[in-house]
Amino acid sequence: MSTIMKPLHMARNFIRACVCNGEQVIDATAGNGYDTFFLAQQVGDGGKVFSFDVQEEALGRTRKLLEEKNLLHRVVLILDGHEHISYHVEKPVAAIMFNLGYLPGGDHSIITRPKTTVRALQAGLSMLKPQGIITLVVYTGHEGGEEEKRALISLCQRLDQKQFTVLHYSMVNQVNDPPSLIVVEKIH
Ligand SMILES: C[S@@+](CC[C@H](N)C(=O)[O-])C[C@H]1O[C@@H](n2cnc3c(N)ncnc32)[C@H](O)[C@@H]1O
Repeated sequence: MSTIMKPLHMARNFIRACVCNGEQVIDATAGNGYDTFFLAQQVGDGGKVFSFDVQEEALGRTRKLLEEKNLLHRVVLILDGHEHISYHVEKPVAAIMFNLGYLPGGDHSIITRPKTTVRALQAGLSMLKPQGIITLVVYTGHEGGEEEKRALISLCQRLDQKQFTVLHYSMVNQVNDPPSLIVVEKIH
């Protein structure tokens, strides 16, 4: 086992460090439900995970996983784009996870897009509690992925350092477009 963690594992470590029992959090891309399951474990019975996806298939898979794990009561499944998170969830939230791209084992033409992902990140920034975090696992191997990453980095670089700290974690010697991780923490 390697000491250097993969971006998704790193994202989960950040979330573990900042989410407490009873808090509300968002999974902005439910997909197969693994991140929703992870978040549901972190928030405990008093907390809530609001889980978004634009595909019924993804929410169906997420529901099934959470039912199997007996944690569906901690989750609200929402069939809508993450650019609309503020319509469905009251602030503040302790954490928001994005795992971008397409649904593995699903329709690869339904992917996250730069414009809506940037809108979702902007909305998410205004919903974070102090010391709350947003994690984004970003993929560049598919069409539009590089553009999405550039748009996100560009937005993050313009954030006021007195309000937000931003980290970009990436492998520099791996072939085949490895994913990278962006983490934004709200300072106060
Ligand atoms: C890489 S998958 C997510 C993996 C998931 N977090 C997991 O643990 O299995 C990306 C998901 O984003 C969804 N998606 C695409 N555009 C979206 C949008 N605007 N809002 C919310 N979800 C979106 C896709 O349908 C897909 O299921």
